[in-house]
Amino acid sequence: MKVLIFPDAERADDHVAGLLCQEVAAKPSAVLGLATGGTMERVYARVVDRATAQGLSFRDVTSFNLDEYWRVPPHHPASYAFYMAERMFRPLDMDPGKCHLPDGLAPDPEDEAERYEAAIVAAGGLDLQLMGLGLNGHIGFNEPTSSFGSRTRIKTLAESTRTANRPYFDTSDAIPGFAITMGIQTILEARQCVLLATGSAKARAVAAMVEGPMAAICPASALQMHRCVTVVLDRAAASELALYDYYQSVHPDGAPARVP
Ligand code: F6R
Repeated sequence: MKVLIFPDAERADDHVAGLLCQEVAAKPSAVLGLATGGTMERVYARVVDRATAQGLSFRDVTSFNLDEYWRVPPHHPASYAFYMAERMFRPLDMDPGKCHLPDGLAPDPEDEAERYEAAIVAAGGLDLQLMGLGLNGHIGFNEPTSSFGSRTRIKTLAESTRTANRPYFDTSDAIPGFAITMGIQTILEARQCVLLATGSAKARAVAAMVEGPMAAICPASALQMHRCVTVVLDRAAASELALYDYYQSVHPDGAPARVP
């Protein structure tokens, strides 16, 4: 794992936005795995700014989101389809035919999960999978004890996940209890993974992911098996890492490693 610790969240967000733009500049038809959540809102705003400033086109990009709530319609402002359209797909003029999310209204979750997996394979697999980190160590909606061999499927959301997502729903809305999510194995097959976590609330999950034993109780720890993962943190999220000084010595404040 490459662990980059930036002095603050702004610089961490900006670095991740830069990685996404670099990927698309190098391969305009890149297949991106995308995430939602509060962390990514700031990243996508920066991606849009950078792409506009650089004249970088996302028109040929194909994207697959990690997850979507089950039975929340795409026009609902808390759905991930709505979130992505607002923050990435429309502002970057992405081709709607190339932007994929699991269908939370599909008649059968198992068929939908199979269809989604097949669509990722048909697109040639994921070049870069972007991820946030749940307070409980989830990636996508692979909640603790998810199998490391899991593929796209319907998952029951943990109570802490439902609480964290409550602010996105109206008080009159029922908070969804299920989502369709890419599996951990699906994520591990991406050619490159980038995970962003900021703020002290994520520090415990970050330490378990990077340094803890690889164990299903922290689904993100499965990333220890991937050969090309970049973990982007601010100092607060990195604060519980036992080897903090080591990571900083290799990449001071997120700078590239200097090999003599
Ligand atoms: C969202 C997703 C989740 C979030 C995670 C962090 O598509 O897959 O794993 O990335 O819950 O969410 P925030 O950024 O809101 O703390």
